[in-house]
Amino acid sequence: MIRTAQKTFTASLRSASKQRIPISASSLALRPAKGALAQQEHPTAISNKRTFTSSRMVSAASNGTPQVPNDFNKDLYTSLKEYDPEVQKLIELETYRQFCGLELIASENLTSLAVMEANGSIFTNKYSEGLPGARYYGGNEHVDTLENLCRDRALAAFHLDPKIWGVNVQPYAGSTANFAAFTALIQPQDRIMGLALADGGHLTHGAYTPKRKISASSIYFQSLPYEVDRSTGLIDYNALEKNAKLFKPRILICGASAYPRDWDYKRLRAIADSQGAYLMMDMAHISGLVAAQVQNDPFEVCDVVCTTTHKTLRGPRAGLIFFRKDKESDMETRINNAVFPACQGGPHNNTIAGIAVALKQAAEPSFKAYATQVVNNSRALADVLLEHGYALQTKGSDNHLSLWDLRPIGLTGSKLEKVCDLCHITLNKNAVSGDTSAVVPGGVRVGTSALTSRSMLEKDMKVVGEFLHRAVEIALQLQKEAGSKLLKDFTRVATEGDGKGRQLLAELGKEVIAFSTSFPLPGIPDASTIVQPSTSNGTH
Ligand SMILES: Cc1ncc(COP(=O)(O)O)c(C=O)c1O
Repeated sequence: MIRTAQKTFTASLRSASKQRIPISASSLALRPAKGALAQQEHPTAISNKRTFTSSRMVSAASNGTPQVPNDFNKDLYTSLKEYDPEVQKLIELETYRQFCGLELIASENLTSLAVMEANGSIFTNKYSEGLPGARYYGGNEHVDTLENLCRDRALAAFHLDPKIWGVNVQPYAGSTANFAAFTALIQPQDRIMGLALADGGHLTHGAYTPKRKISASSIYFQSLPYEVDRSTGLIDYNALEKNAKLFKPRILICGASAYPRDWDYKRLRAIADSQGAYLMMDMAHISGLVAAQVQNDPFEVCDVVCTTTHKTLRGPRAGLIFFRKDKESDMETRINNAVFPACQGGPHNNTIAGIAVALKQAAEPSFKAYATQVVNNSRALADVLLEHGYALQTKGSDNHLSLWDLRPIGLTGSKLEKVCDLCHITLNKNAVSGDTSAVVPGGVRVGTSALTSRSMLEKDMKVVGEFLHRAVEIALQLQKEAGSKLLKDFTRVATEGDGKGRQLLAELGKEVIAFSTSFPLPGIPDASTIVQPSTSNGTH
């Protein structure tokens, strides 16, 4: 009896595997929406069935609630704290670091408790290659509902008509979303134009150096960057138009990682149209601001809009691709096939659960208030720096970030980043327009998304701005004490020296902690539960 069952199982498994071979990546791409594979065709469905009738489950069912086993699986029921104190300690240290510090990295944010719960949920167990209603694997009834809910919420959060726009919510990240969009829209070696990396564009928009194709987007496609005007720091649309005429891109990409102003989508559309190019927006940095309608709307004119979900949108780490459905009848199929199977495998369903929660939040009036405050805070912080006479690229900010040019005061981005790190202010060195060396960027980027998630307002930006001013003065003092312009000498006096600079830095660090810890930390409802872990030295 057992031998017969085993034989039948093995035969079914073989035939199911056989049936799966031709339905691999490339052939599925041709017919993804034709309906799901029958569950019983799939080996997983068969093995699930077999597990269900196993003796363990039968006895558990007859005895009532199954008990936690005391066998080789017992670790599956042990909490992280109990099972892995090493990792638990690192989580506590990171929580403490985030609580004590000021997060000014413009690409980061602090997500919610609900998003973290969904992201850490049991959806992580499930494979669901394909789309709702058309999966490789069985058991996806709840995953299908989840992905449909997430898609609906994505369209609703960005105020889109489902007859005109569709969305794929499976990209693992912003970079993967961008590459999948290229894969859907153009052929290898076709031409793309994006904002230059040194001018605030992203790596995935075709970045290359004289000697190296840096990103897959420049390895598999021909790319020509456009730039900002050196005197204003604003996108040079005239030069872009001229170069587009010569280069004839198939995709014109807008969107950036370090651009403090909004985009002229109508102008970009006209330039794309003049060359018959697609217009693609990578709104990764500003998607939360777009959802809240405090930035211009790329959906009015773009063909494809990609985003990350973890920056101003404040969700888990992932990506989304929005596409126009009404212009080209096969666009939906091309985008969906480009994500899976061309660029990815099974979606991360736990992440999609987190995205769905974040999108529900992004559609709330409170999110509009948040996004408005992000921009107000960015302007307020920019004002403090300008009042101190510092140079900001474009002389201010209309979104969540400012680009601070340190060259006029004789500092590099690396040095200010180092000093800030040592006093619990996190920001990043960044190229500023006209930088000759990409290795030694002349500025830093400061963003207000995370600070605003900690409920800081304009008055708090005044305090943060003064901290930054003191950090600059300390950096200049340390540079003097170092006796050289080298970063290693600078770091030595900042971390081991006995001069005035290091003393001032320690004082500033203490004040930053006192200020930061007076604000709540998203995800931790009771901040009094955040304790300094024993191995922490009181700093990071
Ligand atoms: C404009 C832009 N696009 C894409 C990405 C890539 O996102 P991810 O890190 O999720 O791949 C970033 C990341 O910073 C970005 O700034």
